[in-house]
Amino acid sequence: MSLIQEIDFGTPASKASTQVTLTIDGQRVSVPAGTSIMRAAKAMGTSIPKLCATDSLEPFGSCRLCLVEIEGRAGTPASCTTPVAEGMTVTTQNPRLAKLRKGVMELYISDHPLDCLTCAANGDCELQDMAGAVGLREVRYGYEGDNHLCEVKDESNPYFTYDPSKCIACSRCVRACDEVQGTFALTIAGRGFASRVVASQAEPFLNSECVSCGACVQACPTATLTEKKVIEVGQPEHSEITTCAYCGVGCTFKAEMRGEDVVRMVPFKDGKANRGHSCVKGRFAWGYTTHRERILKPMIRRSTSDPWREVSWDEAITYTASEFKRIQAKYGRHSVGGITSSRCTNEETFLVQKLVRTAFGNNNVDTCARVCHSPTGYGLKTAFGTSAGTQDFDTVEHVDVALIIGANPTDGHPVFASRLKQRLREGARLIVIDPRRTDIVRSPHIEAEYHLPLRPGTNVAVLSAMAHVVVTEGLIDEAFVRERCDWSEFQDWAAFVSDPRHSPETLEPLTGVPAADLRGAARLYATGGNAAIYYGLGVTEHSQGSTTVMAIANLAMATGNLGRPGVGVNPLRGQNNVQGACDMGSFPHEFSGYRHVSDDAAREMFETVWGVEIDNEPGLRIPNMLDAAVDGAFKGIYIQGEDILQSDPNTKHVAAGLAAMECVVVQDLFLNETAVHAHVFLPGSTFLEKNGTFTNAERRIQRVRKVMTARNGYEDWEITQLLSNALGHPSNYAHPSEIMDEVARLTPTFAGVSYAVLEEHGSIQWPCNAAQPAGTPVMHMDGFARGRGKFVVTEYVPTDEKTGPRFPLLLTTGRILSQYNVGAQTRRTDNVLWHEEDVLELHPHDAEHRGIRDADWVKLQSRAGATTLRAKITDRVAPGVVYTTFHHPATQANVVTTEFSDWATNCPEYKVTAVEVSISNGPTEWQERYEAFAARSRLIVDAEPAE
Ligand code: SF4
Ligand code: SF4
Ligand code: SF4
Ligand code: FES
Repeated sequence: MSLIQEIDFGTPASKASTQVTLTIDGQRVSVPAGTSIMRAAKAMGTSIPKLCATDSLEPFGSCRLCLVEIEGRAGTPASCTTPVAEGMTVTTQNPRLAKLRKGVMELYISDHPLDCLTCAANGDCELQDMAGAVGLREVRYGYEGDNHLCEVKDESNPYFTYDPSKCIACSRCVRACDEVQGTFALTIAGRGFASRVVASQAEPFLNSECVSCGACVQACPTATLTEKKVIEVGQPEHSEITTCAYCGVGCTFKAEMRGEDVVRMVPFKDGKANRGHSCVKGRFAWGYTTHRERILKPMIRRSTSDPWREVSWDEAITYTASEFKRIQAKYGRHSVGGITSSRCTNEETFLVQKLVRTAFGNNNVDTCARVCHSPTGYGLKTAFGTSAGTQDFDTVEHVDVALIIGANPTDGHPVFASRLKQRLREGARLIVIDPRRTDIVRSPHIEAEYHLPLRPGTNVAVLSAMAHVVVTEGLIDEAFVRERCDWSEFQDWAAFVSDPRHSPETLEPLTGVPAADLRGAARLYATGGNAAIYYGLGVTEHSQGSTTVMAIANLAMATGNLGRPGVGVNPLRGQNNVQGACDMGSFPHEFSGYRHVSDDAAREMFETVWGVEIDNEPGLRIPNMLDAAVDGAFKGIYIQGEDILQSDPNTKHVAAGLAAMECVVVQDLFLNETAVHAHVFLPGSTFLEKNGTFTNAERRIQRVRKVMTARNGYEDWEITQLLSNALGHPSNYAHPSEIMDEVARLTPTFAGVSYAVLEEHGSIQWPCNAAQPAGTPVMHMDGFARGRGKFVVTEYVPTDEKTGPRFPLLLTTGRILSQYNVGAQTRRTDNVLWHEEDVLELHPHDAEHRGIRDADWVKLQSRAGATTLRAKITDRVAPGVVYTTFHHPATQANVVTTEFSDWATNCPEYKVTAVEVSISNGPTEWQERYEAFAARSRLIVDAEPAE
């Protein structure tokens, strides 16, 4: 395996459709109009020396190294900033140009440390390369004059250093932060000789606005900004393309390695979701793979009060199978089930649901999508016929109006947020519907035209009011609706939303959204050009989650905002493989490709291939499994890659369900919360240790490639296979590609998917088949998958979770950029520096009323339970609303959330919990219990270090 090198064309590609022909160094070349001379030269194989240019950034023209001569023009213009012209004749190499370039390089080198041999960037430094390219052998000016060689390093960021002595003031870092990331954290302060890159107000990087995305590090042509791991271990020797295992954006990376050691993760320019960008998690937070707390050997215990006993894989699998067999013999076939994970690959989740349907012989399989995007599946399938988002991320480049509802992309989907911000800076307009003033509402050079800070739990009412404006003001796209949708259902819906009870003015007291703002937002969405809706868990995790998804679909259909680039309904999926886990048949009522288990033709297909009979009734969902366990009917569970005790609502009920089971099997990287109740612990593998595929929020199937040996001994799919064999259902895949072949055989929407096609195209957006081998970037172009688009009347039904004198505040939850979900991975990296604990945001009025000051310990109490955490007083939340994250188990935020859930899918109502906040008297019983557990885990780790 060699190091994958990407070509740097110097300047971005032109999107023009017309071609221009010119001559460079005697050779004719045709390129799109608007292309720079530098890029045109590179396209024909000529590298013009450069330092301040790189093709991820707009040309800047500061270093003057890329000078060329153009016939008929005076002087030596910079080739990076000069566009091509028809008939132009360019010379890139001659003695005059060589002399000029050498002179420029002499000036740079005279103020640069000459420590190349010991520099971390040796062999990967553009300054060094350019010195060679221009033939620089000596510097006439000497090194004695004023210079920057004694500048002090900034080591504050845990992942990279800033060494100003090596800076050539090319501004690539500043432009990367502005243009690519959109944070605007860096500037060049001072002038001339005093020019210096500074973060924020000349602060250390760690204390500045920098969000550690690493774009500046990647853009820096010298060792000024360098990954600490490169300094520590040296330059990488080989690399492999793989996919980030954190969020649903699905960024593609080059894992750059030395042997089996990851040196750095470099976002891949050809990655179609991320286009060469990343966030702090994907680029830097992979150290958990070798964290000492990782469990690498299987463990069993007869009772959860016994200590764990390390055993061989053989013993662990045999014991697990015998327990499941014993339980089924005693309590019946339906007394056991399994849970798949959106953190795992498609192949792994497919295998878990297959194990449940074949070896367990029931449909009791569910996935963590139950607690996040199950309403998306239900709502979009009802409206359009397909349980998936309609667009690819590239479509954002055509968006005129972005409507974000219930999503916080800057924190939850950062690379998509950066791409959206680029479009917003180009002039697209923004509507944000969110109880909090999230970062995207106002960030550098971006301001939402409308922020509708609705009261949590009133999404459907707000969307009905928007629809009211669209219909009553005649803003519908009637031609689209008549051609593409069911007209009579549309009329029913239009009559429903036109009712005065849905007017913004009538609903204002309920939603808290000023009617004038709501009217303005609705008009903008309907008339502002291409309008795209992006939504997240603030839509789905409600008692009316599915209704809200359908209300969004109604709005998009009514305004004709579907079926072309730049529009659509786009769920921002939380975990890396939420889409894939759902696609693979992880729900108890569906096979892969969303075919109901009662569909005789589909079921018979699976029965024939798998050689078993399959129930034609749906199995149990996660909450039903826990209820049945408490009732004594459900006794054994196999949980792959999920920590339901921390992630699922109403922790006490989850704990009671798990405690009532006789065999709880947890397969994970670390001893998680759920493992408190486990009898078997099967150590799992990380994304760096396995082969497979993930499917991101745009339905894009991408390869995950193994770059190191699985430290636990097996990839996760192999563990499921061992278990299946031990349970008596033979399974003998030699490679995950064979599992994908089976998925493709059994799933019409995956008909054309194979590892060979993935190799050829890099990725595939399903649906795909022989006619569309690379898949379908934009869905429903020529009609909806279900035929005619379905308008559903979406009556607002208030949640049963009500505020009152005991619990007068509404709690809503979310994420933060540096942490990921329950934090099992990110808490075991230096990302904790940015978020050491979960805090409770509350409005100054609510704080003052309760005598709470910033950073006070407070008790957060609901009718389900209580926890304590620190207060953060901020007007980002509206009065009456409090907000926290759930990344740290010590916080136990889900002790507070309730059992209420979406009426259609049981997705928990995480976003609305009635609570009270008071000054705390110390940790709750649950937090003390966690501490005791954590202490026990530490004992195991101390006794048996993983490394
Ligand atoms: S790491 Fe990212 S956010 Fe921080 S300064 Fe560099 S480009 Fe800006
Ligand atoms: S830190 Fe690197 S990218 Fe930024 S100005 Fe200096 S040399 Fe250029
Ligand atoms: S966490 Fe999401 S945005 Fe960040 S690098 Fe990974 S896939 Fe990309
Ligand atoms: S690369 Fe063109 S001026 Fe620097």
